[in-house]
Amino acid sequence: MAAVRRKLFVKSYGCQMNAYDATRMADVLAPEGYEETTEITEADLVILNTCHIRERAAEKIFSELGKVRIVKEERHARGLTTKIAVAGCVAQAEGAEIFRRQKAVDLVVGPQSYHRLPEMLREAEGSTSVLDTDFPLEDKFGQLQPPSRSKIASRGVSAFVTIQEGCDKFCTFCVVPYTRGAEMSRPVAQIAGEVEHLVSAGVREVTLLGQNVNAYHGHDSAGGNCSLATLVVELSRIPGLRRLRYMTSHPNDMSEDLIAAHAGETALMPFLHLPVQSGSDRILGSMNRKHSAQSYLDLIARIRLVRPDIALSSDFIVGFPGETEADFQATLDLVSTVGYASTYFFKYSMRPGTPGAQMPDQVAESVKSERLARLQVLADGQRRAFNASAVGRTMDVLFEKKGRHPGQIAGKTPYMQAVQVDGADHLIGEVAAVEVIGTSSNSLFGRLVEHRS
Ligand code: 5AD
Ligand code: SF4
Repeated sequence: MAAVRRKLFVKSYGCQMNAYDATRMADVLAPEGYEETTEITEADLVILNTCHIRERAAEKIFSELGKVRIVKEERHARGLTTKIAVAGCVAQAEGAEIFRRQKAVDLVVGPQSYHRLPEMLREAEGSTSVLDTDFPLEDKFGQLQPPSRSKIASRGVSAFVTIQEGCDKFCTFCVVPYTRGAEMSRPVAQIAGEVEHLVSAGVREVTLLGQNVNAYHGHDSAGGNCSLATLVVELSRIPGLRRLRYMTSHPNDMSEDLIAAHAGETALMPFLHLPVQSGSDRILGSMNRKHSAQSYLDLIARIRLVRPDIALSSDFIVGFPGETEADFQATLDLVSTVGYASTYFFKYSMRPGTPGAQMPDQVAESVKSERLARLQVLADGQRRAFNASAVGRTMDVLFEKKGRHPGQIAGKTPYMQAVQVDGADHLIGEVAAVEVIGTSSNSLFGRLVEHRS
């Protein structure tokens, strides 16, 4: 019997892993008759896929849930039922508290349990509320439905695949080890199967995701453990897969074989997101990062030795408890030394349950803002210089979508820069050589040099 046709609205917050989870929730619900909609008022099921990493995450979700409740009430007045689900890391962290604070919520589902959504929805028929924030023993990924080819095609030529979840590092500012749980890696065959399926439906670039992706150690078919480097080599053999990327990495898990893969594997793109968080050894120590500024710089030097053109990216936290002007200056110095292609800055925010929240000497908000602005100026200059250095060069661009204006298409360089060119839509999904002729604040402009697919 065909499933009743219903509409699903998913709003995802936070990181790319959450965006990936949102697509997998839609995939798991598709056989139940759920089709995605961008109109919340049409939705029989609303999922807020939440993020808990930074400031006032839970408060923002409760305020959003207030708005969703009004939609539910309006639909109820029209004789329509609406189920509201809270998923993701706020669901994990707040659990049943969510039902207490917002009675309109029907389901609370943690990041490790969303493969159970169809079952939970059946349990929630009527007015029962259903909670699942367990870290189940069964393999979530093994239970997920593969998306249809048309759904993959609608999501574009660049896809994400989670290969590793959770973290055992316990940086003192971070909630991830508590919300996503202990480190776990998916088996090689399962990942290869998913990537092959995506590529057969037109995907050309895959970004391998994990909170600590370079700690990957999944089982291979021989019963051994496979490193990220070996996985990259294996996946790059899949015909039709043009580009591989991975994020987010920890400096201490940047193994020699992974560095070597950057030299030898042409599918592995020369872009590396390698967060350092701070340039001060004192702060790195109290963050429990287990590396120093110098060991990070030495690592970057080793990577650049084998891949001189690699573009680097990092996250930074300003105003971690106890951060002095001298500590902050050390961060500015580190940024100046490395020269980043892109950077992400965050003002430290206390996450309940993490050691950082208990630390004395919390930094004033005004000091955090002022430091953030100074760091931003330095990094903006570096990003502009990086983009300007592309002008006059010819590089391969993977075209992903139509451009801003008619007759234009848009894609990415190997270094993750967005590029616009005049070109025909049939190039979308292909890699072509582009001469970069100009830059704006957020993207490059180029000219097609030749077409080789
Ligand atoms: N406060 C500010 N930034 C944080 N991050 C993680 N936890 C916090 C926090 N409590 C930042 C880190 C991490 C990125 C994903 O978010 O820089 O690398
Ligand atoms: Fe959080 Fe990353 Fe540190 Fe793990 S390594 S605790 S995910 S910041």
